[in-house]
Amino acid sequence: MKYPNFPKDCKSMLCKYLTKEVFDELKDRKTPNGFTLEMAINSGVKNPDSSIGVYAGDKESYEVFDLLFDPIIQEYHGFGKNEKHVSDFDPNKLDIDNPDPKSELILSTRIRVGRNLDGFPLGTIISKEQRDEVEKIVSGTLKSFKGDLQGEYFPLKGMTSAVQEKLIKEHFLFKEGDRFLEAAGLNRDWPEGRGIFHNKKKTFLVWINEEDELRIISMQQGGDIKEVFVRLANAVNELEKDMKFLKSDHLGYITSCPTNLGTAMRASVHIKLPKLSQDKKLFKTVTDKFHLQIRGIHGEHSKSEGGIFDISNRRRLGISEVECVKDLYNGVKELISIERSL
Ligand code: ADP
Ligand code: ARG
Repeated sequence: MKYPNFPKDCKSMLCKYLTKEVFDELKDRKTPNGFTLEMAINSGVKNPDSSIGVYAGDKESYEVFDLLFDPIIQEYHGFGKNEKHVSDFDPNKLDIDNPDPKSELILSTRIRVGRNLDGFPLGTIISKEQRDEVEKIVSGTLKSFKGDLQGEYFPLKGMTSAVQEKLIKEHFLFKEGDRFLEAAGLNRDWPEGRGIFHNKKKTFLVWINEEDELRIISMQQGGDIKEVFVRLANAVNELEKDMKFLKSDHLGYITSCPTNLGTAMRASVHIKLPKLSQDKKLFKTVTDKFHLQIRGIHGEHSKSEGGIFDISNRRRLGISEVECVKDLYNGVKELISIERSL
């Protein structure tokens, strides 16, 4: 494999940190599962417009290719090589109110965490048999859930395109054909082994075998962030009684993309900011100050519609679950106050 040819205007972290020296040092290394540098960087090489551009194949990838992953993790999360990730998913520590009790600006709230099973490689190099096994384990446990979390599992295979499209449009299901995931090997054998579990009200959902083996999601209309957090914490607890998730002392929960390490938590609101969003500089200054990310309303790499944005915490590693949500809460309070003053 030769050093990749990045276009001149490439701004990804991959092209920033994969210097010729780092490349030469890493190019012949392999993890015990057979994950190589070529696999790790393929998504960013094929998609030079990536913001990050790298994926892992297993927990060991983060050690074997540390010269590439460490600076990316440092820049994205502000988290250093010798730091330890500490988790705190205790809802009792989350002392917040609803930042928009009349639901004037916040349409909905969603919090998700990514998880992968201990004992399996990540989705980038998982075999079809292993992926099917993950689906069986996770959907089996979910089917035994009772009460508010009780629901049904819907495999992607066999789902009509009308149902699939409706679920995507209503923000419940992952989209198909993402080119970043495709180049990372995460869409192999599609749609086999993939699916979505949800309760009746669609306030608790689990995506199986998308970018991570599990994406555990709690969501509802309005801005009651705490209620969404409590439901998620309960669901994760229930799942953890039955399965062991891949994690390390240093990096917390291990995910296929380095942006999701640690808590693997993205807490977001869909919020109307028609005035503030006109002032792009101010909008960016405020979101940066609170470590927030702006996405469009159909998820990552989508556009905003009607002045509505998906605002979420950006950092996920080196801060706890409670702190991730506080990043969102504090930022959203400020965004609402500025929007109202304009
Ligand atoms: P992820 O959250 O897993 O990183 P995406 O950014 O692609 O992935 O979002 C997945 C889906 O969740 C998209 O359909 C998106 O519109 C939806 N979504 C995200 N946040 C919210 C929210 N606060 N309310 C409703 N839907 C949301
Ligand atoms: N690989 C894509 C990029 O670099 C996505 C990165 C973050 N998002 C994610 N879903 N992991 O732009």
